[in-house]
Amino acid sequence: MSEWHNYSSREELDRALAEHIAQRLREDIDRHGSASLAVSGGNTPKNMFALLSRCELDWSRVWLTLVDERWVPPADKDSNERLVRENLLQQAASRAHFVSLKSEHNSATLGLAEVTARLADLPLPFSAVILGMGGDGHTASWFPLASNLAQLLDRDNPELLGASDPVTAPHQRITLTLAAVLQSRDIAIHITGEDKRTVLEQAGDRDYPIAAILQQQHIPATIWWAP
Ligand code: 6PG
Repeated sequence: MSEWHNYSSREELDRALAEHIAQRLREDIDRHGSASLAVSGGNTPKNMFALLSRCELDWSRVWLTLVDERWVPPADKDSNERLVRENLLQQAASRAHFVSLKSEHNSATLGLAEVTARLADLPLPFSAVILGMGGDGHTASWFPLASNLAQLLDRDNPELLGASDPVTAPHQRITLTLAAVLQSRDIAIHITGEDKRTVLEQAGDRDYPIAAILQQQHIPATIWWAP
């Protein structure tokens, strides 16, 4: 059973999660000399990113990347990189080392090798991975109808990244695999609203992709929620 951290407002939730993540980064910097964080895109994390960007820690020792990226130019309004650059790589956090998941290639499939090579710079395991969730039970870019979902969720898949067509959402994606997300000391699922709470509670019964995180017992996964 994953532990829930429930808050009465999104502001309180965002503050608590930002402080939790900052603390994880500080601990890894103290113990290992460096820290790494993978964050999700979408709408939910924007305010939390702004709060996290102001947390005091030695950001020059932090490597930051995305859990998944939409295959659009980094200036596109749908780019997760853009979201991170505008909201998280600011203030104190502007000193962090950002590893982009987007290359110049025409497709995520063609860019996969180049982007995978960049991840060699990251200190692994991640200090923390922050996941979002969609109303269809996807997390990262593990979409229910993606033709390679089984590969993305195969814990023995040696690849850190996969390219995928979400079918039910726009843009080709590049995404960490389940095996890569589990190379983390901490997993935080950041969701808001009653609908997502219900989806998450039903994830196991309905075999939603996010159930792969909830059902594993190796890495502590906590759920951070507000109405
Ligand atoms: C993406 C994601 C994705 C996201 C969920 C929730 O790029 O689409 O990283 O997994 O976390 O779709 O998105 P919202 O926060 O917008 O609901």
